[in-house]
Amino acid sequence: MSTFLKFPPNFLWGAAMSGPQSEGWLGKRHENIMDTWYRICRNDFYEGVGPDVASDFLHHFENDFRLMKEIGLNSFRTSIQWTRLIANLETGELDPNGIAFYQAMIRAAKANEIKLIFNLHHFDLPTDLLDRYAGWESRHVVDLFVKYAKTAFQLFKDEIHEWTTFNEPMVMIDGGYLYGYHYPHYKNEGKRAVQVLYHIVLANALVTQAYHQLDPEGKIGIIVNVTPAYPRSDRKEDQEAARFFDLFHWRSFLDASIHGHFPDELVEILRKDGVLWKAEAKDESLLSLNRSDFIGINYYHPTRVQATEGQIFEKWLPDQYYAHYDWPEKRVDPYKDWEIFPKALYDIAKEMTKRYPKTPWFVSETGMGVHDEGRFRNKDGVIEDLYRINFYKEHLFWLHKAIEEGASCFGFHTWAALDCWSWNNAYKNRYGFIEVDLNDQTRTIKKSGRWYRQVSLENGFEIEEDPFV
Ligand code: BG6
Repeated sequence: MSTFLKFPPNFLWGAAMSGPQSEGWLGKRHENIMDTWYRICRNDFYEGVGPDVASDFLHHFENDFRLMKEIGLNSFRTSIQWTRLIANLETGELDPNGIAFYQAMIRAAKANEIKLIFNLHHFDLPTDLLDRYAGWESRHVVDLFVKYAKTAFQLFKDEIHEWTTFNEPMVMIDGGYLYGYHYPHYKNEGKRAVQVLYHIVLANALVTQAYHQLDPEGKIGIIVNVTPAYPRSDRKEDQEAARFFDLFHWRSFLDASIHGHFPDELVEILRKDGVLWKAEAKDESLLSLNRSDFIGINYYHPTRVQATEGQIFEKWLPDQYYAHYDWPEKRVDPYKDWEIFPKALYDIAKEMTKRYPKTPWFVSETGMGVHDEGRFRNKDGVIEDLYRINFYKEHLFWLHKAIEEGASCFGFHTWAALDCWSWNNAYKNRYGFIEVDLNDQTRTIKKSGRWYRQVSLENGFEIEEDPFV
């Protein structure tokens, strides 16, 4: 017996990319921190490939939008590059070439009936602002970001009615301040990380306010990477570890942007530990009055945690409250070493419904990066990526179940429409529905792209009865 999984009307079937990972740095006046990282340390990147040209979306976007239509995307999210749109980061003076590019991109999306969602920040802080002001540690950078956002809203408000402020701000904190895997590679800077978190939340509220003033009909949200924290056991200590992980990594951003304030418990812990952020008196009402209209959830893998074993930390770190737990039964994506656990999408959806029942949300990224996909090419030159189709089917199965049970999820975006550059894996693992040949930038639709077209056309797909339970 088979069942057809039908999704709600007007469901968004789409995919995401980001400016830095698809357009690269060609034609920009400023470097962002990822560009700088590559310029000074090419060897950190797989085969020394950088974000200079990336997937050359800058020159191929018209054809790329045609291909996106061909694979059934009714929506697409990418990011504007602060370093491309703004000529003078301090005064906000515009770069005419940047404007021309984004306007042309908007026209191409429209011509192909693809709803474009613009994101304002995808890990790509201008390096000047890091060097001059310590980046997101500085309140002045929040003001400059608001200035840039207002400019973007003014320019594109007639065409773009869905915006997001940040993509995965927690990765900026983890990668840049706690564990050093992204430029500027600071490690164990817990207190500074907390200040960065606060400033991002503040920037989100200020930008939301600016947008609502300009376009009361439009919608603006924030994209967070949510990994449920599954405790190792029912023991109180393991449960507590999961509770803190959840507070710091998930509820910090979501409570602040949806409820308009941080969770009290988190504030108390940070105050007791002497690492609470610096704030101004007016901020409280700013957060409370300017809330996100919707949320984007990026989900790739779950987190499993356990109680710490009394390790002593020289400086404050969130890790003093939990340790990672390696579940022996996990199924792993060998290319990234990420656990594959599709049911988490159901668990996330349930938590969203419980905690934030009135807030609509969508899956803004999920995906599977695979190395050396040429192995799966058939005689017609098409990559037969059945693993990707199965990965999406499994995730959609659980998402569909949650929607049936009342989750207010309005769409599903994969990572990525085309193969894109990764933050230091470069093009090692490919995520796209559309293959990009880096030798000559030709594009070929993979089998998963054809499958997605069908799913989008039929607003669902057929499965064998409960195959994934
Ligand atoms: C998400 C990011 O975290 O994961 C994307 O928003 C990123 O920018 C994607 O590319 C996949 O991760 P990676 O490191 O394999 O590119």
